[in-house]
Amino acid sequence: MMEQRVIDSYDNVKIVEVRGDPLPMYLIEEPEFSEYEKGVMQQPQKMIENYDAINKKLNDLKTPNEKIVFLTEYLTSQFQKNGIKSKDIGVFVSALIDHVFLRYGRLGPLIRDDRLEEIMFDSLDTPVFVVHRKHGMCITSVEYKDESEFEPFIRMVSEHAGRKINAENPLLDAHMPDGSRINITVPPASPEGASITIRKFKKTPYNIIELIKIRTVSMDLAAFLWVCVEGLGICPANILIAGGAGSGKTTFLNAICMFIPNNERVVSVEDTLEINLEFVENWVPLEAAPLALEGGEKLSMHRLLQNSLRMRPDRVIVGEVRGKEAETFLVAMDIGLKGSMCTLHANNAREATIRLTSEPMAVPIRMLPLIDLVIVLNRHYDRVRGMSRRVTQVAELSGIEKETIQMGDIYLWNVKTDDIRQTEYPIMFKEEIAKKCGLTKKELDIELLLRKKVLEYMIKNNITQNEDVIRMFQRYHSDKAGTLSQVGIQKRTPVS
Ligand SMILES: Nc1ncnc2c1ncn2[C@@H]1O[C@H](COP(=O)(O)OP(=O)(O)OP(=O)(O)O)[C@@H](O)[C@H]1O
Ligand SMILES: [Mg+2]
Repeated sequence: MMEQRVIDSYDNVKIVEVRGDPLPMYLIEEPEFSEYEKGVMQQPQKMIENYDAINKKLNDLKTPNEKIVFLTEYLTSQFQKNGIKSKDIGVFVSALIDHVFLRYGRLGPLIRDDRLEEIMFDSLDTPVFVVHRKHGMCITSVEYKDESEFEPFIRMVSEHAGRKINAENPLLDAHMPDGSRINITVPPASPEGASITIRKFKKTPYNIIELIKIRTVSMDLAAFLWVCVEGLGICPANILIAGGAGSGKTTFLNAICMFIPNNERVVSVEDTLEINLEFVENWVPLEAAPLALEGGEKLSMHRLLQNSLRMRPDRVIVGEVRGKEAETFLVAMDIGLKGSMCTLHANNAREATIRLTSEPMAVPIRMLPLIDLVIVLNRHYDRVRGMSRRVTQVAELSGIEKETIQMGDIYLWNVKTDDIRQTEYPIMFKEEIAKKCGLTKKELDIELLLRKKVLEYMIKNNITQNEDVIRMFQRYHSDKAGTLSQVGIQKRTPVS
């Protein structure tokens, strides 16, 4: 027997480290069903009372959660009434919901586990992999032996997205009913058979207070970014968020958007909707993926961005710049659209500038200084700390010399101490804000300190719910004195 150690367990999940294996095992108990139970699963229309009426009712319910609540109650009471024999009615009903009604199949328990970030199915006869928020990549005990087992799931996703997936359209990028992002490939794109990748939707997006608490960002840097994003109502920064795949770019972007004053009009542009700015009253999200224009041309990010500029936005937020839209985005900044933000795949700030200026984005290098800050995120995994995401670099783009972009690191992460600190490099953007807002450097430093105090107060008093966090930031913008007195600062804090 190989040496095993249970490193975590909850609900019917056990996470086990096996000596010598690089990845932990994510084990879920998959129940054995009786003949009767199997019969219900195979012929639900015959075996479940009012089957059609239930399905009709399900169409009226919006979220999978509402459906689960309704179905659990209805099916449990029906089976109890009919006195069926079941080892565990709860387990059976839950499986029935997954297989018959939601068509999640055996992925159901994984889809519902909020501690998972990603679910990956590569091919038949290989285990499904998951990325766990705490334990990183794990191998699960779920394995498919036959295509017929996951076909209903793929059909469900394609029906929900309103798009076909077949040999002519072998790639599908869509949303699941619970808001998660899903990518499916089938042959000939993936010659070995279908693959499924689910990026699970986090029900409540992280806010900056949570990100400070889990050490993705420091309090000091968060206060600085608050000033940069809000721009003291006069000169918000243009920000690019860079990082590798899954490093937390979109999440970070979403969190710093909570600093946007709520009297601004924001348009977001994405391939597949992820950014959630519900807290901005005057917000329009635009999405490219599901649409095709007349003649079959795909609605590009570029077209959407051009359109967004006709919508009189105060800011445009772009999720992942990749192509032609990059230049349009910078041109928009050039003609006065301040406070715009986007994400980009790159491992560090220098690489981000190289990618921006190379094909297919091909932004002229002289435009790059329009970007005030580049924030870089990284994902780390180590056995002690588990999985962590950190802002590892904040760089300022200052100018161009001899065809190279001049760049200074103003914050850097230290791997040994695991913290991000301001460097010796003077922050030019601070000088710019001070100048544009008519403040002295000292006054701006006081402002930064006050905001840091507000953040400290929020952490100390456990103000971590999104509504409360946003309310606090908004109140600070509209009633600074009131907020400061709540925080316990009556007079100006003296700065020496
Ligand atoms: N700072 C963080 N701490 C812990 N988990 C995080 C953090 N940021 C993001 N996550 C989680 O990591 C996953 C990936 O995050 P996100 O989508 O923001 O990354 P991304 O860099 O935008 O990915 P992609 O490269 O696919 O665009 C999500 O499940 C998210 O909830
Ligand atoms: Mg992203």
